[in-house]
Amino acid sequence: MRAIYPGSFDPVTYGHLDIIERTSKKVEHLIVAVLNNPSKKSVFSLEERIELLKGVTKEFPNVEIDFFSGLLTDYAIKRNCTTMIRGLRAVSDFEYEMQMALVNKKINTEIETLFMVSSSKYAYLSSSIVKEVAMFGGNISCFVPKVVEQALKNKFKGGI
Ligand SMILES: Nc1ncnc2c1ncn2[C@@H]1O[C@H](COP(=O)(O)OP(=O)(O)OP(=O)(O)O)[C@@H](O)[C@H]1O
Ligand SMILES: [Mg+2]
Repeated sequence: MRAIYPGSFDPVTYGHLDIIERTSKKVEHLIVAVLNNPSKKSVFSLEERIELLKGVTKEFPNVEIDFFSGLLTDYAIKRNCTTMIRGLRAVSDFEYEMQMALVNKKINTEIETLFMVSSSKYAYLSSSIVKEVAMFGGNISCFVPKVVEQALKNKFKGGI
């Protein structure tokens, strides 16, 4: 089976990496697809998010990094892959994820969304929280790989 793991990855965290690693053991090929949404302000550009993801996933031979704009369902058709992977951290993720999965299925009935339950040690982790801690100079070494930590430090070194 091939699968697509879509998201913003702004930036990639250990929470994402955990999902990528665990999923890569269950599928033949995993496409991590970075959403390019110009109307949603991101800290890292699309190129930067892709670069960071490529760097931290290079040890997984069956993981590919790509990007998409617009509808995920259109991208799914383009890549000829109808299995979507999403991570579930807490009950709070469930409502939104359920809505997205049902909307995607409504658009294309072939699409199935599979949920990977977060490892308990990363259940609290999100890109937003990491950026918030980094912005105020907090230690983020247990949340993100070294290259991402450095990239975040560079982003916020001049203050907010
Ligand atoms: N710590 C985590 N454990 C499990 N799944 C996660 C974790 N962090 C993110 N995910 C999942 O990864 C996918 C992509 O998420 P996304 O790019 O929105 O990251 P995020 O950390 O939620 O960022 P943001 O804070 O900007 O929403 C989603 O399915 C999300 O639920
Ligand atoms: Mg999110």
